[in-house]
Amino acid sequence: MAHGDLTIDLRQMILAIETAVSFVGMNDVNHGKRVGYIASQLGYQLGFSDEDIQFVFDLGLIHDCGVSTEQMHSNLVNHFDWTDANIHCEIGWNLLKNFAPLAAFATPIYYHHTPWRQLMDTNISRRDGRMANLIFLSDRIDVMAASHYEKDILLAREEISRSINTYGGSYFDMDLVDAFNTVEKSEAFWISLEDRHVSRYVWNMGQVESNSPLTLDQLRQLSLIMSYIVDQKSPFTAEHSVLVASLAAYIGRTFGLSERQCEKIEIAGLLHDLGKLHTPDNILAKPAPLTAVERSIMNQHSYETYEILRHIKGLGEVAEWAAYHHEGLNGVGYPFHPAATQLSTEARIIAVADVFQALVQDRPYRQGMSQEEALGILIDMARYGKLDQQIVDHIQHHIEGCFRIASGQERDERLSYKELFPAKTGQRPS
Ligand SMILES: [Fe+2]
Ligand SMILES: [Fe+2]
Ligand SMILES: [Fe+2]
Repeated sequence: MAHGDLTIDLRQMILAIETAVSFVGMNDVNHGKRVGYIASQLGYQLGFSDEDIQFVFDLGLIHDCGVSTEQMHSNLVNHFDWTDANIHCEIGWNLLKNFAPLAAFATPIYYHHTPWRQLMDTNISRRDGRMANLIFLSDRIDVMAASHYEKDILLAREEISRSINTYGGSYFDMDLVDAFNTVEKSEAFWISLEDRHVSRYVWNMGQVESNSPLTLDQLRQLSLIMSYIVDQKSPFTAEHSVLVASLAAYIGRTFGLSERQCEKIEIAGLLHDLGKLHTPDNILAKPAPLTAVERSIMNQHSYETYEILRHIKGLGEVAEWAAYHHEGLNGVGYPFHPAATQLSTEARIIAVADVFQALVQDRPYRQGMSQEEALGILIDMARYGKLDQQIVDHIQHHIEGCFRIASGQERDERLSYKELFPAKTGQRPS
């Protein structure tokens, strides 16, 4: 592979998407894992091929990739049939449909809250329809079971089963409901859904490679999908990740780093704030200074970024560059406090790009700063050892270019949400 240490198997990235998306659930991080597990168990019962079982398991893991906010997550898991459920289906479809390695998941994701009867009126393939409905069924089983795990799940299953059967033929394909009726008879099925078991099961699945290493282009595209999910979480962050990525790569290039390093910096820039998926909506969207408690919770996000990225085999130093974006040079910053010698140039560039972009970005309650104001703040931060002096000097020399990129006036079309995921509602798989 041309990009050496950056050889990453698609399976690793599917699991990373699952981890990132699961963080939105805050206290319940295993919904996607359970849906994948339930769907795969029903798949065995239905006589699926190994390939289809793997497919439906992965589909379950990432089926909620269109959910960025806690609020939406809670509506989905607290109502059997929530009227706005189609929003996340459409977002999920939009995110994956043009990304070849995951495009096969897009149509089933679009229809994973569509009742079986309505599915019959669409012209999607029988396989897509079945996969979509299997996820819908598995998802609703989990939603009904969620409050009973680790408690009375073996008693609650009777009620769950009765309820699912009343929806057979209308919401769910009767064949799938029949498979459920067989599978649910075993206590093992229900017990295996408890946190300790289902997370190990998923971990085991992660050991199986899909043998489809991503190209560097694909890795960037996938990182862009993930950054979109996090940037959508709050109107304050709109395009933050994507602009930090462009700016950091620009700084790297003009600073004289190799093209390959700059490509990697770009990926780290896209991924740096992934951990914000675990920050409560009300803290991210607060239009005022944070209290000490809120700040302490907010500041956990770069550690959470590291937790998502460190498990991706092959990502190597990119995980650290991303996770170190709030570290300073004299041990000021958080959360690892690496020595200055452990802070690579790439990590320092991302840290500077992060601050500069945030300062110049318009917020709902304030205008973005001018280049002079923003630069003034960077210079102060360098003086206190929070940012690298040399890189801040470098920004000063390229201030016009840096400002145009950070404020979104000059764009790289490879890194544009608008072009890649146009949000035109009413579109559907054809
Ligand atoms: Fe779901
Ligand atoms: Fe951050
Ligand atoms: Fe950031």
